[in-house]
Amino acid sequence: MENSKHLVVGNWKLHPRTLAEAKKVFLATKEASAKASKVDVVVCPPYPFLSELSYLYKGTKPTLGAQDLFYEEEGAYTGTVSGSMLKSVGVKWVIVGHSECRARGDTNKIVAKKLRAALLSEFTVILCVGEKERDHHEGEYYAFVRDEIISALEGVTVSELARLVVAYEPIWAIGGKASDAVTPQTLHEMTIHIRKVLTERYNNTLAKTVRILYGGSVKPDNAASLLREGFIDGFLVGGASVAPAEFAVIIDIAQKSKK
Ligand code: PGA
Repeated sequence: MENSKHLVVGNWKLHPRTLAEAKKVFLATKEASAKASKVDVVVCPPYPFLSELSYLYKGTKPTLGAQDLFYEEEGAYTGTVSGSMLKSVGVKWVIVGHSECRARGDTNKIVAKKLRAALLSEFTVILCVGEKERDHHEGEYYAFVRDEIISALEGVTVSELARLVVAYEPIWAIGGKASDAVTPQTLHEMTIHIRKVLTERYNNTLAKTVRILYGGSVKPDNAASLLREGFIDGFLVGGASVAPAEFAVIIDIAQKSKK
């Protein structure tokens, strides 16, 4: 079944600096998401804040996600965090394959292992894909995005698909201002491509059930047109998700847009 709600995910990255600030950002987002009955809202704070935020705001919206996880459950893996650790502090969602993690060494193979581990731990997983740059001659970025999806989904079963979200995040569009984002038309072409890849891997009916997000300089100024003309199911928001007033506007736009 196609999901009837929009999905807005905040990826806080390495922000804010303290737990006190994290609580403020979370509270403001909680207020904004309480008004948005038609939007699923998820925030992904840095690891050290997860436990406290989950304890303080148990059962309320937004739902908590993690920005990454490691694929082993325990052992001599300094600096990593496992699925069961995240689960035990109330995390329900996990991002895997973010380009900033890929830049620090996550290959397609590692992303596939992380995706597997996350699904086994019963998380809903946001798989990030996206090309570094656009070559205007060959459209190689389509093949690049296809490879990222197909390799990550190796071994992902039909029943697990209900817990998969694909986020298209072209690296060249990340971390800028509204005008640096992809255009709605270009986004629409990529949404069609991603659905085609999912159809090739599964089938047309199942492909339609996977929510597709866009991420890369999503701001209050461009969110409405990206959502409406890009034919996506929501956003993965970086910078604007730690600016609570901006994030609230983006949530409100998702609430008011038709799905
Ligand atoms: P941005 O980040 O919204 O700051 O461009 C998006 C992301 O990297 O998830």
